[in-house]
Amino acid sequence: MKILIATEKPFATEAVEGIKKEAVAGGHEVALLEKYTEKSQLLEAVADADAMIVRSDKVTPDVLDAARNLKIVVRAGAGYDSIDTAYAKEKGVVVENTPGQNANAVAELVFGLLVYTVRNFYNGKSGSELMGKKLGILAFGNVGRNVARIAKGFGMEVYAFDEYCPKETIEAAGVHAVDTRDDLFRLCDIVSLHIPATAETKNSINYEVVGLLKKGGILINTARKEVINEPELLKLMGERTDLKFITDIMPDADADFRRFEGRYFSTPKKMGAQTSEANTNAGIAAARQINAFFKDGDTKFQVNK
Ligand code: 3PG
Repeated sequence: MKILIATEKPFATEAVEGIKKEAVAGGHEVALLEKYTEKSQLLEAVADADAMIVRSDKVTPDVLDAARNLKIVVRAGAGYDSIDTAYAKEKGVVVENTPGQNANAVAELVFGLLVYTVRNFYNGKSGSELMGKKLGILAFGNVGRNVARIAKGFGMEVYAFDEYCPKETIEAAGVHAVDTRDDLFRLCDIVSLHIPATAETKNSINYEVVGLLKKGGILINTARKEVINEPELLKLMGERTDLKFITDIMPDADADFRRFEGRYFSTPKKMGAQTSEANTNAGIAAARQINAFFKDGDTKFQVNK
């Protein structure tokens, strides 16, 4: 079988080597399309692929139509909102993700960004510390759990809300489980978003909920830009000159947010999973899942059942 690695944002070299090794061990061949700039390059590359490994690459109906032999797409990562899973299902294409494989990388970046923020973006002026501050984690999945673990090392008080995760699971991790999302924002100094982009969550981080943050509150987003209601957050930050917004996913309204100097920061390109370890973990997991699919029909990680 032919496995296409299609990554507009390439994996680390070690990850590509690891994927190739796994694929060859499974009896497959690998084609590599990196840093493509035109959709046409992807359409051409998928034409004879039996399987695909992608990152945040958009797997839209035209890509699925062009991929006449395609049987499986594995998103090497957690969020699969960039893949038209329903259309893939219609076409009989299995879609999988590799949950947890890049979670530590994203969680570590949260703290890189937070230290940078509370130290005033290293402008030389006296800032503050994370120790003793209340951190609110919105969604207690793989990333949220890693954030909680690291936050404890910083001596933070850790709170979480996740409507799909039992309170007992949160408490068992030594984290205070709060009853509502509003309570999390009301109670914490910093709220870190770890929700996926779904019909339910898109635009859900709005004027009302962020407005519940205490004076000097920080909102940090390493999840998806779509969950932020950008016009409402802009309005709120215009009114509340104490609030800070830090993001690893550049908002559409980046130019407008930039006017809040000292209170806004965005990485130029999503950096959360950009480590050699995360690329290797997620990439190799993807290759192994493809091997298991072709060998035994294994679809354990399928997200479009
Ligand atoms: C994920 O959903 O796994 C992360 O957001 C990482 O995405 P990336 O592979 O595009 O960096």
